[in-house]
Amino acid sequence: MPDLFSPFTLKDVTLRNRIAMSPMTMHRSVDGAMGDYHVMLYGSRAAGGFGLVFPEQIAVTPEGRTTSACAGIWDDRHIEGLARVTRIIREMGGVPAIQLGHTGRKGSEQKPWEGKLQLPPDHPDGWQLKAPSPISYGGRYTYPVEELTVAEIGGIHRAYADAARRALEAGFEWLEMHFAHGYLGASFFSPLANQRTDQYGGDLDNRLRFHIEALDAVRAVWPERLPLTMRLGSDDLHPDGVQFDEAVVAVGRMKAHGLDLADLSIGFNTDEMTDPPFARMSFMVERGARVRREVGIPVGVSWNLGLPAVADQVIRDALIDLVFLGRPALSNPHWPVWAARELAHPDPFSLVPEDWGWWLRNFRAHEACIGWPAPGAARGAA
Ligand SMILES: Cc1cc2nc3c(=O)[nH]c(=O)nc-3n(C[C@H](O)[C@H](O)[C@H](O)COP(=O)(O)O)c2cc1C
Repeated sequence: MPDLFSPFTLKDVTLRNRIAMSPMTMHRSVDGAMGDYHVMLYGSRAAGGFGLVFPEQIAVTPEGRTTSACAGIWDDRHIEGLARVTRIIREMGGVPAIQLGHTGRKGSEQKPWEGKLQLPPDHPDGWQLKAPSPISYGGRYTYPVEELTVAEIGGIHRAYADAARRALEAGFEWLEMHFAHGYLGASFFSPLANQRTDQYGGDLDNRLRFHIEALDAVRAVWPERLPLTMRLGSDDLHPDGVQFDEAVVAVGRMKAHGLDLADLSIGFNTDEMTDPPFARMSFMVERGARVRREVGIPVGVSWNLGLPAVADQVIRDALIDLVFLGRPALSNPHWPVWAARELAHPDPFSLVPEDWGWWLRNFRAHEACIGWPAPGAARGAA
């Protein structure tokens, strides 16, 4: 029976464990390029034992970013910075994964700590928003949205394919498309955002056309031997939005188009969600287990899986195949090592590079020497 530390093989790629660093948008790029900051951030998580390491969502066009400081892959000049990131992840024992995205009507934002408000198209850091239908998201996303033409949709699919070619050249071994969280793919799938009357709107097949065409375009350049996955906005938690039953059907259709794993998340096509579950532990797991069971495809989910015992149990119970960790990966670069200790793994330091793993394993009189006091002792006993 696999546990959190069992290897996981998908296509020709084997992860050393079931722990993925979930993609998390940073705002540290200049003209879309990655640099030392990104090498530090993702290299340290690979050194801390994460099996699969996703840098942030990487935009396939400049208008596909969240802020003007987000990373991109719309130009060959981005390959060099991305290749530095893949090299350090691989050298530290992880598998480098890329999440390709386009933010659609949720782009052109300020950085979170500057207010996270949307910027108008004539602002130096803003741009014109485009999406399936001319409907603003609302709330803090206030600016008018233009409807994408069919020709522009084709252009975005070509941008995905070009991005996939560059991702391969940069050394990524796993490619995920970000079609959740209210971004472009998510809004094509959701009746809340997509009210088109052409072949890209209406019934489920039409609302899924954008996804299938993107999958086909990417697979044409992304080798069959490497995983192609999708983060799907599988539930809008709104009576007029995407219902989870539709997502189950959608994953089945996409499996037939070469989808290797479903990473299920929330649609976030509206802020007016019914009974938002965000404080509940592991709330996506049950949905993931249903897709895994009914569609017969490997599944990963994120959301509140940062307690080691919970993360381990959902793998042991064969509910999902991969645990995606977002905030826990930011708060603790060595989360996998810590989890290994919590779960009585026989050799937690096998997860870090041998250069320091050997020392930590062999050169200590007791656990406190390495800052691992007995539970409770950190607060008192000097
Ligand atoms: C700072 C930050 C940035 C994020 N950016 C992305 C992103 O670029 N792509 C994405 O799919 N999810 C993004 N997310 C969501 C995470 O990948 C993850 O799904 C979410 O935080 C839930 O997992 P957690 O409970 O382990 O944090 C982001 C989350 C955070 C905290």
